[in-house]
Amino acid sequence: MEIKLLDLDDDAEPRGYADVRIAAQTVDRPGEQASSQEQIIESLREASPDFSEFIRLVALRAGEVVGIASVGLRERLAIGSITVHPRYRRQGIGTALLEALLPELRGREALENRAVVKGSAGEHWALARGFHVTASRVVQRLTVADVEPDSWELTAPAGYRVEQWIGEAPEHLLVSVASTRRAIHDAPDPGRDPEWTPELVRAEEAEDQAADVEHRVVVAVEEATGRVVAFTNVRLYPNDVEHTVWHDTVVAPLHRGRGLARWVKAHMLRWLLADKPELARIDTGTASANSPMIRVNEALGFVTTREVVVVSRSV
Ligand SMILES: CC(C)(COP(=O)(O)OP(=O)(O)OC[C@H]1O[C@@H](n2cnc3c(N)ncnc32)[C@H](O)[C@@H]1OP(=O)(O)O)[C@@H](O)C(=O)NCCC(=O)NCCS
Repeated sequence: MEIKLLDLDDDAEPRGYADVRIAAQTVDRPGEQASSQEQIIESLREASPDFSEFIRLVALRAGEVVGIASVGLRERLAIGSITVHPRYRRQGIGTALLEALLPELRGREALENRAVVKGSAGEHWALARGFHVTASRVVQRLTVADVEPDSWELTAPAGYRVEQWIGEAPEHLLVSVASTRRAIHDAPDPGRDPEWTPELVRAEEAEDQAADVEHRVVVAVEEATGRVVAFTNVRLYPNDVEHTVWHDTVVAPLHRGRGLARWVKAHMLRWLLADKPELARIDTGTASANSPMIRVNEALGFVTTREVVVVSRSV
């Protein structure tokens, strides 16, 4: 068996890479709509605002791609997964890919996979190969065609108004956007969110703009103070108009329990669907212990599709 960096210019390797992804998804996530070979190959050529670089490996046996590794690099962290074609599992290929991958992760502290299906081969393998479970999450999906938009028509909680923008936060709201976003650290599983400051908010906006990503934000402003007290954001990628991932929703501590999260999310849904009728699916991930957020999403029409674990090991 040979393990090498994926060659995007090769005739066969990108197709073999995509075929492993498709075959694995059919087995590991049945019922989920699989991407086509063309979509997967196209995505290999795209940059991502979330990562500075990607490392992709293929394991070849008699010229056939039997396993792949795909990892995005951040300054101190590598995030991604190793996948072996279902026909070739339990033969040490996953382990060999991991061993080939680790030296490529120069200087990163940890390798993480954020979406291993709970109780799956992937979780068992990861635990056998030095990973630890660091969080447990539910994945929820909104299928637009299945939802009655009436459930997004909500009355404003008294004392608040909604504001929305694409791209840059208005200057007079910037400080309170950052302070509201810092409250993401109250989540049971805050991940690696930064300590948001006005500068970091501006830096994120600039990155999205440079990557041609449409970053939509809806906030609730407290009328009495003019400050942002609830925040939610969604990113729309130019190459994937039917699908998106919902990122953060945060309510400042003193304003919780008043329906603000549901209200700003409902407003975002109405705004998105009015402008983007082609949007068919929205996915979101939440800590399993975060029942308030899970319930808000359910009230808006999201359905829990699976439970996943985050696994991490040192590099
Ligand atoms: C996880 C995955 C990559 C493992 O690939 P693999 O080539 O079958 O794994 P290996 O042969 O190297 O397995 C090494 C050890 O992991 C453990 N393991 C692997 N699969 C397992 C399973 N289904 N049940 C229990 N333990 C398992 C075993 O201890 C195994 O050693 P053994 O076969 O001598 O008992 C493969 O199952 C896969 O592609 N899953 C879907 C993608 C995924 O979830 N990736 C997450 C990892 S980042």
